[in-house]
Amino acid sequence: VTVYRKDYQPYPYDIPHVALAFDLAPEATEVRCVMQVQRKADASADAALVLDGEDLELVSVAVDGQPLAADRYHQSEHSLALYGLPADASVEIVSRCKPAANSTLMGLYVSGGNFFTQCEAEGFRRITWFADRPDVMSRYRVTLRAEPAYPVLLSNGNLVASRQLPDGRNEVEWEDPFPKPCYLFALVAGNLTHRETTVKTASGRDVLLQVYSDPGAETKTEWALDSLVRALRWDETRFGLELDLDRFMVVAVHDFNMGAMENKGLNIFNAAYVLADAETATDANYEGIESVIGHEYFHNWTGNRVTCRDWFQLSLKEGLTVFRDQEFSADMMAQDMDEAAAASARAVKRIDDVVTLRAAQFPEDAGPMAHPIRPDSYQEIGNFYTATVYEKGAEVIRMQHTLLGEAGFRAGMDEYFRRHDGQAVTCDDFVAAMESVYVRQHPGRDLAVFRNWYRQAGTPRVTVKLEHDAATRRVTVTLSQDCQPVGVEKKAPAGFVKAPYHIPFAIGLLDREGRALPLRHEGAERETALLELTTQTQQWHFDGIDALPVPSLLRDFSAPVIVDYDWTDAELALLSAHDSNPFARWEAGQELATRQILSLADARQAGRTLHADPAFIDAWRALLTDPSLDAAYRARALALPSEKTLAERMQAVDPPALAVARDFLRAELGRQLAAEFRQAFDDNQTPGEYSPAPVPAGKRALKNLALSHLMAAGEHEAQRLAEQQYEHAGNMTDSMAALSALINYGQGEFPQQALAAFYDKWQDNALVVDKWFALQAAARYTTVQTARELMKHPAFTLRNPNRARALVFQFCLNNARGMHHPDGTGYAFWAEQVLALDALNPEIAARLARALDNWSRFVPALRTPMQAALQQVRGHEGLSRNVQEIVSKALEFA
Ligand code: ARG
Ligand code: ZN
Repeated sequence: VTVYRKDYQPYPYDIPHVALAFDLAPEATEVRCVMQVQRKADASADAALVLDGEDLELVSVAVDGQPLAADRYHQSEHSLALYGLPADASVEIVSRCKPAANSTLMGLYVSGGNFFTQCEAEGFRRITWFADRPDVMSRYRVTLRAEPAYPVLLSNGNLVASRQLPDGRNEVEWEDPFPKPCYLFALVAGNLTHRETTVKTASGRDVLLQVYSDPGAETKTEWALDSLVRALRWDETRFGLELDLDRFMVVAVHDFNMGAMENKGLNIFNAAYVLADAETATDANYEGIESVIGHEYFHNWTGNRVTCRDWFQLSLKEGLTVFRDQEFSADMMAQDMDEAAAASARAVKRIDDVVTLRAAQFPEDAGPMAHPIRPDSYQEIGNFYTATVYEKGAEVIRMQHTLLGEAGFRAGMDEYFRRHDGQAVTCDDFVAAMESVYVRQHPGRDLAVFRNWYRQAGTPRVTVKLEHDAATRRVTVTLSQDCQPVGVEKKAPAGFVKAPYHIPFAIGLLDREGRALPLRHEGAERETALLELTTQTQQWHFDGIDALPVPSLLRDFSAPVIVDYDWTDAELALLSAHDSNPFARWEAGQELATRQILSLADARQAGRTLHADPAFIDAWRALLTDPSLDAAYRARALALPSEKTLAERMQAVDPPALAVARDFLRAELGRQLAAEFRQAFDDNQTPGEYSPAPVPAGKRALKNLALSHLMAAGEHEAQRLAEQQYEHAGNMTDSMAALSALINYGQGEFPQQALAAFYDKWQDNALVVDKWFALQAAARYTTVQTARELMKHPAFTLRNPNRARALVFQFCLNNARGMHHPDGTGYAFWAEQVLALDALNPEIAARLARALDNWSRFVPALRTPMQAALQQVRGHEGLSRNVQEIVSKALEFA
C-alpha cells in the first residue's frame, strides 16, 4: 500500500495524557496503557478511535474502568478500532510483546541482556496499541517494574518515584513535562554504569547530563559527555536555545539500526557514536561522536519542541538538524584559530559534507528511489530516512541561510519558534517563517520559487556561459538551469515539466595570473558575488575587466547542483593553484583528477596502456608542497575522487575499470612524487599524547595519505615505514591506516600476521572487531569467496547491524572488484544476504537492497546479472514491505 501526502487527515481525537506501566521481562513484557481520549470539537460523534499495533498480543480493553463489550471494538491485523466512545474517555489497553524475540530492533527489544526501545518512525505500535503518528502529542507518565538484575530503569523526563516492591522487583516512575508524539518515547532497563556532570544553563538552571554504557565502558564516555556540554553551550550561543529539562541522558547500545535517536531527555545511541578512547577510536570516530551527539541534542528544539505533522515532513526536523550539526562541527573545528586557519578548517568540513552528499545523495537523486526532500508518497516510511531527506534537506536549509545571512536566518529561526513551539508542523511552515524575514530584507521578492526545492526531485544542472567584451571591458555571465525527470517522474504523463529552482550561485572571477577580480554586485564590491538564479536563464554583467577571466563557480557549494562549464585543464590547474576560495580551489583539483581517472578508465576499457598526464602530476605536486596550505586541507585536496562520485560521470558504469584506474593513479602519484610524499610523511608525525583536535587529526590524514601512495607505488622503504607505524602507533587512526596499507599493498607475511594479531588483541571490543571486518571486506584481494569465509568467523553475526554493515554492506557497497565481478557471483551473494537479513530486520535488509538501485546504468555485462538478482529478491515469498518497495522501484523506475 502506498501512502500519499495529499491524503493527510487530522486525527479525530486528542490524547492529552498517557500512563504506561511496564512489567519488564525478556520473554514477555506486559504493558498497561491508559489514555485520556478527547474527541475533537470538529470530529464526527461516531468517529472510531483507531489505534495501531504490530506483533502485540491484546490482553484487555476497558473504557472508563469497564471492560469494553466485544461488539464495541474490532481488531484487525495492524489496527484496533474502538466504537461509540464518549467525547471524553479513559481508555485502558493491556497488551504483551516479546522483547527477546524482537530482531527488528524497532519497538522494545533486548540487546546485551538489557532492554531498549526505538520508536521512530513507527515502532511505538510494537509496544502498545496507540495513535502512532507524530501529530498526536501527549504528556507521559511511565512506570517501570523489573527484576533486580535490571537496576537502572530509565524513561523520558524526570524521575518522580522509586521503590522496591514486596516481590523484590524495583519500580520507578518517570514523568515527562512536555507533550510529545509517541515516536519520542523511550525506555532503558538494565545493568549500566554512567558518567555525569552538572552544568548551569544560560538562564542559570543546574542541569544533570549523563552518559550510560555497559559496565567497563565508562572509561570510553568522556568525549561523548564533553561533546554534549559543547553542544548545549553552542545551541545557547548560536541559536539562543536552552535545555528545557533538568536531566538529559544518553545511553549507548550495541544493537541499533541507525546512528542515534533523539527521544525526549533520553537519547539512545548506537555505541559506535558514544564510545571512544585513543587506543580504540579513530579521528573520524571522534568527529562522528561529536557530530551525532550534537545532532541528537539539537533535535530537542528542532524535532521535539517543534515536531512534524506527518512523516512526509521528515526533512523539517532532519534537514534542519543536520544543518545545525554541520555548523556545530564547523564552529568546533574553527574555534581558537586565527582567521585564515579558521577559514581553512571550515572549508575542510564543507568539503567533507559535500563529498558525502555527492557520493550518497546525487546517485539517489538520479535513481529509482529519487524523491523530493518532502516526498509525496511512500510504501514504508523506514525507507525514507535517506540522504535526500537528511543531506539534501540540510543543503536546502543552508541555501536559506545563504539567502538570508546569519542574522536573517537567526531571526527566521526565532520567528519559527515564536509561531510553532509545541506544535506538529510542516515544511511550508518553516519556509513561511524564513520568508517573513526574507521579504523584509528583499522588498518585492519572496521564496515562492524557492519552495520548488521541497516539491521536486533530481539534481538541477546549471550551465554557465562567460563572455568578455574588450571594448566595454564587460564580462557577461549567463546561467541556465535544467532538471530532467528522475525516478517515478520518468513515468509521468506527457507534458510533465519541472519548474525552475531558486538557486543561490556564488561566483568569483580570476585573471590569468590567478588574482581575484573585484566584482561589483548589488551595491557592493567583493571577491565573491552571490547570483540568485530564479528563472530558466539569467544574465549578470561585471564591468572593468580587461580580458576573459577564469570563473570560480559555485563557491562553497552554495547550492546542491551540478555545474556545467567547459574549463580547460590549464584553467583548472590555475584555479587549483590560486583560487582564494578554498572550497572552489579543492573543487578544481578534484575536477582535474576526475578527468584524469575517467580517461584512464577509458584507456583500460579500450585495452590501451595507462599513462598519467604530467600536467596532472604537476598540479598534485603543487598542492602537496604548497606551504600555505595546512595538512587537513591538503589531505582533502590530494584525495582522489571516490568511485561513487566518479561513477556518476560515466555513461555506462564499470566499477572494476574505475578501481583499476584509481589504483593506477594512486601508485603513479606515489612513484612520481615519492620524495614529496616521503617528506609529508616525515613532517606530519604527531608524537606525544593523542588528541583528536583538527590540527593533529589533519596531520595524520595527510601523513597516512602519503603512506598509502608510497605503499601503492611499492616504494623502497614504504613497507618498513608502514610496519613501524603499525607496531608503534599510539592511536587507532595510525594503526588502521598502517594495517590497511599493509594488507592492500604489502608483501610477505607481515600483513596477514598483523591482521591476525589485531583480532587477537581486540576480540573483546565489538567496535574494533567491526573495523577488523570492514578493513577486510573492502580489501583489494577480497572476493565473494573471501567474504563468505569471513562470514563463518565465530565473531560474525547478521543480527548485529554494526557487524552486518562492517562485512556485508562494506563488501557490497565498497568492494568494486569483488562485488562487481563479471561472473555475477557478487550479486547472487547480495540477493542471499538481503533475504537473510529480511527475515531478521527488514529495515536493515532494505538498506542493503539499495546497493543495486542504479543497476540500469552499469555496463551491459553487469546490468544483466544485476537485474536477475533483483528479480530473484522480488520474487521471494514473504518479502517485507521495506525490501519490496526498494526492489520493485529499482526494477520499475530505473
Ligand atoms: N531521528 C533519528 C535521527 O536522525 C533517526 C531515527 C531513524 N529511525 C529509524 N528506525 N529509521 O537522529
Ligand atoms: Zn536526526
